[in-house]
Amino acid sequence: MGESALSNPERRMLAALLGNPDQDWSLDEVLSACSWHDQAQAVGAGQGLADAGLVSLNEQASAVWTLGIEGERAHADGLLEARLWNWLVSQPESERGMGDLNSAGFKRHETGPGVGLLKGLGVKIIAGSLTLPEDASEFSGVADILSARGDFLASLVEGMSEESLDSSMLAHFKGRKDLIVSSESVSRTWKVTEAGMAVDSSTLVEATQIADITPELLQGDGWRNAEFKPYDVNLESANPMTGKAHPMQALIERIGAIFLEMGFTEISGDYVTSAGWNMDALFIPQDHPAREMQDTFYLDNPASIDIADEQLKSWQEIHEHGGDTGSLGWGGKFSPEIAQRGLLRTHTTVNTIRHLAKNPKEPCRVFSVGRVFRKESIDRTHLPEFHQIEGIIMEPGACLPMLVTTLKTFYAKMGYPEVRVRPAYFPYTEPSLEVEIKWRGEWLELGGAGIFRPEVTEPLGCSAPVCAWGMGLERLAMLVLDLDDIRQLYISDLEWLRAQPIL
Ligand code: PHE
Repeated sequence: MGESALSNPERRMLAALLGNPDQDWSLDEVLSACSWHDQAQAVGAGQGLADAGLVSLNEQASAVWTLGIEGERAHADGLLEARLWNWLVSQPESERGMGDLNSAGFKRHETGPGVGLLKGLGVKIIAGSLTLPEDASEFSGVADILSARGDFLASLVEGMSEESLDSSMLAHFKGRKDLIVSSESVSRTWKVTEAGMAVDSSTLVEATQIADITPELLQGDGWRNAEFKPYDVNLESANPMTGKAHPMQALIERIGAIFLEMGFTEISGDYVTSAGWNMDALFIPQDHPAREMQDTFYLDNPASIDIADEQLKSWQEIHEHGGDTGSLGWGGKFSPEIAQRGLLRTHTTVNTIRHLAKNPKEPCRVFSVGRVFRKESIDRTHLPEFHQIEGIIMEPGACLPMLVTTLKTFYAKMGYPEVRVRPAYFPYTEPSLEVEIKWRGEWLELGGAGIFRPEVTEPLGCSAPVCAWGMGLERLAMLVLDLDDIRQLYISDLEWLRAQPIL
């Protein structure tokens, strides 16, 4: 790294150190030579210079001792043994019993250890009474010890490095609970290396570095000769906690963006529709199991939705005998009442069908992402309300390879390049496909597709072939968001929501 890449603080620090290149510079010396107040600035600049090989860094870890909780109390009120001693020497001999200690205000938890400490100083217990040493000279010896202990504690108020402390005193207090505590401190010194000495000090002039590119800056000419602060993408940063779209909404928007990019137009439709548009228009026989009450939410209001007679008639012909399509139809008797029953749509294929009914001759590429309703029992992978991604391509020449390529392109853009199709059956498509994508080595079924049958398109008046597909959104969401329970999407778990990536 050349010196040209040095930051301003690094330049300032190297210039200062070059003032005395043989010196080991301490933190305080660096701070004052650079006119800095913040240690972090010196440590950061020193680290940058060391990384560039321009200074060498010497780090020495040492223990620093300060007062613990009991030590602070002792420093304020006197050491326990000192308070006891002072009491003892001022008491008449007959009133130095253990009971007297308690009535003198010493706490229960103090008396035990306190007496132990006094014994260490030569006090004996004779017939239940604390007895001072006989030799009066020991008195002054004890006073000296007590004042030395007090001074030792006082010296720790600001913290002292281990080397500068009296080792026997340190050992004594280490053996007592919570009087002194140590912490690790690192002292650093920096020294210019040979490479650092070779730096031409004229290059160490601090330049105005631009950290923010503002509109004002860009409007003027100031940026032309400016130096830009390098942007370090590896630095730790805080996670911004801003509002963002719910992952499901974000996914829906991303899917929409992909289809728009592929030249599709978005359509939508109502949740409430008739069985006719949801099913009869799709040549789903009126006795199909999916039409049963236990699968579909039929409505009491509206219990029935009007459909134009002409429309009903064309479905009737198709269902009963295939109309003009050459199909045999399903046979039996078509019921206009069944067709007019109100329900919650069970698939968004109704959106594309209604679009075709309105625009039978206009080639189109349309899609919708919408909510559908089925009577499913709720579990890890099922909800009674879910979403489908639906789409059609209608144009002369629309064909199966076009359909498969479109789906492959969509899933590749979603990040799933491996897609395969398998034969399937739907009453409204021929051929019919199942679409699968490969995820973590497994093939997962995501939806259905096919070419609409003439029984579907002819009553609507379409003549060009129609590629159609309908796929589950929740399944895809589980893959994209790595979920194993679909309900996670709807329980408003704020912690989980915050942790979700922006899609
Ligand atoms: N409607 C089908 C479903 O709900 C999917 C599908 C749509 C299949 C269009 C073929 C064509 O699963």
